[in-house]
Order: sequence, then C-alpha cells, then structure tokens
Amino acid sequence: AATGPLAGKKVVVTAGGTREPLDPVRYLTNHSSGKMGFAIATAARQAGAEVTLIAANPQITPPEGIQLVKVETAAELLAAVKAQFKNADILVMAAAVADYRPAEVAKKKIKKTADNQTMSLELVRNPDILKEISTIKQANQIVVGFAAETNDLIANAEKKIKSKNLDLIVANDVSQAGIGFNADDNQVTFLFADGRQIKTTIESKSKVASQLIDIISNKLQK
Ligand code: PMT
Repeated sequence: AATGPLAGKKVVVTAGGTREPLDPVRYLTNHSSGKMGFAIATAARQAGAEVTLIAANPQITPPEGIQLVKVETAAELLAAVKAQFKNADILVMAAAVADYRPAEVAKKKIKKTADNQTMSLELVRNPDILKEISTIKQANQIVVGFAAETNDLIANAEKKIKSKNLDLIVANDVSQAGIGFNADDNQVTFLFADGRQIKTTIESKSKVASQLIDIISNKLQK
C-alpha cells in the first residue's frame, strides 16, 4: 500500500489547454503545455495519493503510474471533472480553460473569399467548471484553483477565490518570460481563503508542485 501524507486520498488534477473547434481543421486555444499540472500530479503520487490526471492537449508526455483521462474541449473537461470529483478528496484545476468557444462549428473548412478582407467570429461563453463544482462540493473536499493573470495578480486572484468558492488559489503571473505558460520554472503566490499569502521564489514547476502538495497535506491534517 502507498505511504505518505496523502495515502488513501484520491486527487484529481487537470492540466493543459482546452481546444475549441472552429471547423474541421482549426481551433482556438492558449499556451498551456501541461507542465504545471503534470508536476502537481507527480507530486501528489509521490505523497501517496491515488491520482487521476485529466489532460487537455498536453505538449509533453504524461507521467507514468497515473490514471490518465484525455479531453479536448472545455465541455469535455467539465464532464470529466464532474465524473471524477464525485469520489475525490482533492481537486486541483491547473488547466487553462477557454472562457469562450465559437458559437458554431462549421462542418466544412471555412473558406476565404476574394472580397472579404476581414471576418468576424461569434463566440459564446463556456461553463465555469470551478463554479459548477462549487455547487456540488462537500465540506470534506478540498478544491484548489489557479489564477493566470497578466495584471493586478493578487486583486484578481482574490476575486476568483471568492467567486469560485475555493479553499486555495495559486496566483500565477503569466506576463513574465521564464515563468508561467510553457516554461520549466514558475513563481506563484499561494492565497488562502482567510487572506494569508505565501510567495515562492522562481523555481522549477516540480518544486512549486511539492510546496502545493505540502500545503494541501497540512490542511487535511487540521
Ligand atoms: O501548462 P503550463 O504550460 O505548465 O502552464 C501553467 C499555467 C500557466 C496554465 C497554470 O499555472 C495556470 O495558471 N493555470 C490556470 C489557467 C487559467 O485558465 O486561469 P484562469 O485565471 O483563466 O482561471 C481561473 C481558474 O478557473 C483556473 O483554475 C481554471 O482552471 C478555472 N476555470 C477557468 C475557466 C473556466 N471556464 N472554468 C474553470 O474552471
């Protein structure tokens, strides 16, 4: 049997960026590689947890020894998270989810026309996965979100921890080169529901991940 502070616990981690199709050959997405979420899944496994990793279009190879669920769109991610959350102790949402998707997915490749120098796309809102989870969350379940921000990092993260009803939010400045999207390193501020903050140094994503898993393990022991 597994040993470690999360032995006997089921942890669900999301990673990567959703893809929202426009037509059979094109999609809208973001720069998420999956590295941060994969590092968290690995750290949780090392802490003894049973881990399910829900990966949206990762750019790197998933870690071994972990149950992997592959998804593409935000809608598929929502369905997978809901299914896995039912018997989970901890959910960590590191995936970068598209807030909007094309209103219609064309069945055939969209063609350019000789006279149209511009074109408009109509987008519709995607469901907020963490908000939906907050409506089914039980008192003994821990839900951790991320906040990827280019400005007003802490103020925006504070808004998200409240609106998404989270136990903890990981505020991630994504405006700086060398950290955030697709980088091997990261620097984050862990922000608690009671307002406490812990800022890390710039360090590897696996170090950030093990700090996060330590914080979650300590929370469970209280
Ligand atoms: O994958 P990497 O290349 O390693 O990059 C890591 C990362 C920058 C993607 C990661 O550290 C990160 O910040 N992930 C969150 C990206 C994001 O979508 O942030 P957000 O501020 O837009 O969303 C806030 C939270 O709500 C996130 O936990 C997100 O997963 C969740 N969300 C967002 C939109 C939505 N429709 N439903 C959600 O649940």
